[in-house]
Amino acid sequence: MCALNSRKYGGTELKMAELLSKNDKRTCYCAELGKNNVGERVCLMGWVQRQRDLGSLIFIDLRDRSGIIQLAFDEHTDKGVFDTAFSARGEYVLCVKGVVRHRGEGAVNTNIPTGEIEVAVDEIKILSKAQTPPFEIVENSDVKPELRLKHRYLDLRRPDLARNIIERNKIVKITRDFYAENGFIDIETPCLIKPTPEGARDYLVPSRVHPGKFYALPQSPQLYKQILMVSGFDRYFQIAKCFRDEDLRADRQPEFTQIDTEMSFVNEDDVMDVHERFLKKLFKEYKGIEMNEPFLRLTWRECMERFGSDKPDLRFGFELTDLTEEVRGCGFKVFAGAVENGGSVRGINIVGGADKFSRKEIDGLADFVKSYKAKGLAWYKNHNGEISSSYAKFLTEEENRRVLEKLGAKEGDLIFIVADKNKVVFDSLGALRCEIAKRLGILDKNEFKFLWVTEFPLFEYDEDEGRYYPMHHPFTMPMEEDLGLIDTDLGAVRAKAYDIVLNGCEIGGGSIRIHDPEIQKKMFECLGLDEEQQQNKFGFLLEAFKYGTPPHGGLAFGLDRLVMLVLGLDDIRDVIAFPKVQNASEPMSMCPSLPDTKALEELSIAVTKTEEE
Ligand code: AMO
Ligand code: AMP
Repeated sequence: MCALNSRKYGGTELKMAELLSKNDKRTCYCAELGKNNVGERVCLMGWVQRQRDLGSLIFIDLRDRSGIIQLAFDEHTDKGVFDTAFSARGEYVLCVKGVVRHRGEGAVNTNIPTGEIEVAVDEIKILSKAQTPPFEIVENSDVKPELRLKHRYLDLRRPDLARNIIERNKIVKITRDFYAENGFIDIETPCLIKPTPEGARDYLVPSRVHPGKFYALPQSPQLYKQILMVSGFDRYFQIAKCFRDEDLRADRQPEFTQIDTEMSFVNEDDVMDVHERFLKKLFKEYKGIEMNEPFLRLTWRECMERFGSDKPDLRFGFELTDLTEEVRGCGFKVFAGAVENGGSVRGINIVGGADKFSRKEIDGLADFVKSYKAKGLAWYKNHNGEISSSYAKFLTEEENRRVLEKLGAKEGDLIFIVADKNKVVFDSLGALRCEIAKRLGILDKNEFKFLWVTEFPLFEYDEDEGRYYPMHHPFTMPMEEDLGLIDTDLGAVRAKAYDIVLNGCEIGGGSIRIHDPEIQKKMFECLGLDEEQQQNKFGFLLEAFKYGTPPHGGLAFGLDRLVMLVLGLDDIRDVIAFPKVQNASEPMSMCPSLPDTKALEELSIAVTKTEEE
């Protein structure tokens, strides 16, 4: 029997798959069944994972979002049903009814949760046929990401990816519950807005009604959430879509989601406390990990000095050691020159690493630090008393001794040193310690090291542009004790800003805001915005602040990053149903795309150059 029915529609004969009848009601998901259900009659819906035809026996693995169950067809099966099962191919959609029974002796599959049972099917419908998919729908697929993303609907059928999306949903549920229980009100803010500066480029949306004018998509709900505090909502929360036109990385998407919050009448400790409680609750409820100790807090300066990074991974050591004084005025021009030019010389000690890296691998690491603008990587190792080094010959015995002593180097250790401008030294050694940990395979995905980074600089100097930029955003409150420095030493002003870091990834950040219009104006002036520019860009905020603004502050988590780390994944795309690829396009729907000419005309937009040109 063929499962396809012929039906007449308006005189046309259509061959179509079978329809669900009134009585075809699913009783449960496939993988919900177990030994307890033996003897029960069930109705299941799902996709054919695979069909095995053994002549007088047919087995079909039926898959739905819960997992897989085996369907069995044998000599007792009605011939029509048997023939339909015979015709079923991979990814066909079936409705089946039958009785749960124990599998035969020797047929138990311990690899799947339903491996001890099967369903003896006595009714079957093919609800939909399927072409052969371009890749096999299996766990841990090694199919090229481009192909998987082009057919994302098939990719999302793969159990591991589907599981990530379902787990994300659980994490969101815990999140919503926590913030609701703590008095936060979920408020939606608009997506068509005036640009909010978070440091990235804006996505712009043209206005039809106002020719030549554009909305921006929010880089974050920052200004609106602050204005909600002026309105008196006191505690705001939103799972908010954010858009930033910036280069993609493994932990960055142009379109991503924040757990966004703001609170009134608070200081830094109040904000950090509530979000720390959230993370602890999430880890307890979701992962069963109890974290009783307060999270470690380090100032930005200490982070840089010890780890060369403002988002250090604390799962391992290899901390930075400042060797500037030990090599000042030494005979090795690379070291002495860096110090003379106001830079520094710093090193890391890979304890017990002398036999872990060959010369070739060390050369590879030297190439690695070049991508952080380091001009070279000096090294030293003592392997069973046999010393080799790229720099030792240029230093006196005494200088060498002092360097090794400061680094705490012993026999069996491997030393790396970078001499350069501070930024280059920090960036390259900060990245190198992580790279080495990765290569040594000492990173444990089940270890979770949280860190609050505090006292960030308020401003960051952009050498190329020769001007200061806000390190977070221009609404961040300077530390009171540094207010006096605003007129004398901008680079030294610290902010009431904090980031929350997990295993080397910045999962969230926030600050206490400026709620005094005078300080806010001063801040804008420091950034080189004149009165007109201030009014033009942020006039509405400055105006709002005139009508009674509570002291306030907040924080936003990157939800995608948080989920990625909680699930132990390396790629943010694995926790997003429809992510963008490297060049910010989406391979399934092929966006961005050219709009039709009429749409452009209506928007008063003329395209002067296309990608193809
Ligand atoms: P910030 O810019 O630090 O702060 O963003 C908050 C968090 O969002 C995540 N994140 C991203 N995740 C994926 N892809 C991206 N492109 C991306 N960019 C940021 C990070 C980051 O820590 N309005 C402020 C928050 C505040 O001050 O309250 C803000 O947006 O995990
Ligand atoms: P050279 O004499 O130029 O071959 O340098 C000797 C060693 O110093 C080599 O291992 C270089 O990689 C290293 N080196 C060069 N520039 C730097 C630098 N800026 N910081 C650290 N090491 C460097």
